[in-house]
Amino acid sequence: MELAVGVIGTGNIGADHARRLATRVAGARVHAVFDLDGDRAAAIAAEVGAVALRSAEEVVDDAAVDAVLIASPGDTHAALALACIAAAKPVLCEKPLATTTEECWKVVEAEAAHGSRLVQVGFMRRYDAGYLVVKQEIDGGRIGEVLLAHCIHRNQSVPPSFTSDMSLTDSVIHEIDTARWLLTEELVAATVVPVRRSPLAAEGLLDPQLVLLEAASGAVVEVEVFVNCQYGYDVRCEVVGSTGTASLEIPTANVVTTAGARSQPVPVDWRLRFGAAYLEELQHFVDAVRAGGVAGPSSYDGYAATAVAESCVRSLKEGQRAQVTLAKRPALYETA
Ligand code: NAI
Repeated sequence: MELAVGVIGTGNIGADHARRLATRVAGARVHAVFDLDGDRAAAIAAEVGAVALRSAEEVVDDAAVDAVLIASPGDTHAALALACIAAAKPVLCEKPLATTTEECWKVVEAEAAHGSRLVQVGFMRRYDAGYLVVKQEIDGGRIGEVLLAHCIHRNQSVPPSFTSDMSLTDSVIHEIDTARWLLTEELVAATVVPVRRSPLAAEGLLDPQLVLLEAASGAVVEVEVFVNCQYGYDVRCEVVGSTGTASLEIPTANVVTTAGARSQPVPVDWRLRFGAAYLEELQHFVDAVRAGGVAGPSSYDGYAATAVAESCVRSLKEGQRAQVTLAKRPALYETA
């Protein structure tokens, strides 16, 4: 039987996810959608053959909805995820799981009390072909012991509402999750290093920023986040081990050599760069739910990522290294 999904939030990524579920993900269909912007919801509902409901609660409580996808703004996620857990419905919640560690922890506790996984968090880089190669090299022991990593997260530009904190909580949170996943260990401290501001950054926006993330083993992950780089969307990562390195490459970006130069296209945005990863992520969620469970990045991963991002914000504000304190991982997540 096809999995009937309810989509809450049909903005940029919610609309993309709904289209993917309706046309490209096997074994799934979109049954219902809700967005505060009723016109937007109605347009997507008509496009994907779903009904537009009057509230998020109606989507969660609809007996015909088997699973929920949350793609509304981050500050709405915790309450919606908690409603899904109360209704015992599997949910794919876009990142961040919540905007504060306290709210994330409420989701973790509710899920742990439920007794089985219901929540997958939208850290889609774990499904990217390039990142998976880096992960396999590390786990296969081919680069020895991981010592450090260099990461770059550049966006062409951001809207005027984007803040210095958001560079950390919305952008670097992806590197935080991938660092925890690649290194298979927790991050214990964060330091944000002030960098000369780009003259093209909006007033008040500290851009670029340099972030140092320290792992429990002593390995250090350095992240450059630059959200007004002008030239495109550029995500890179090189993990340095004791016997070699593993580098992330842009998938299917062929090199063209002509007129005395070698060139390679740069994706304009995250939609292009991670399109295949979003599809894998959704397919993985649908397959797992249809098989009777939920896997992938857990609510504990969402909690830990938000906790590290909060430490980054604290470091930025206080101008010094900030420690990360994590609550003990409940047994439900020990093998996740
Ligand atoms: P957006 O602003 O384009 O869309 C958000 C939509 O949610 C809007 O249509 C808005 O009307 C609606 N909305 C607001 N409050 C709502 C509520 N209470 N209930 C239902 N709908 C509500 O934002 P975007 O870029 O689509 O981001 C949505 C979420 O997805 C964010 O948490 C963001 O961090 C995440 N995201 C994740 C990405 C990834 O790479 N995994 C990429 C882009 C976004």
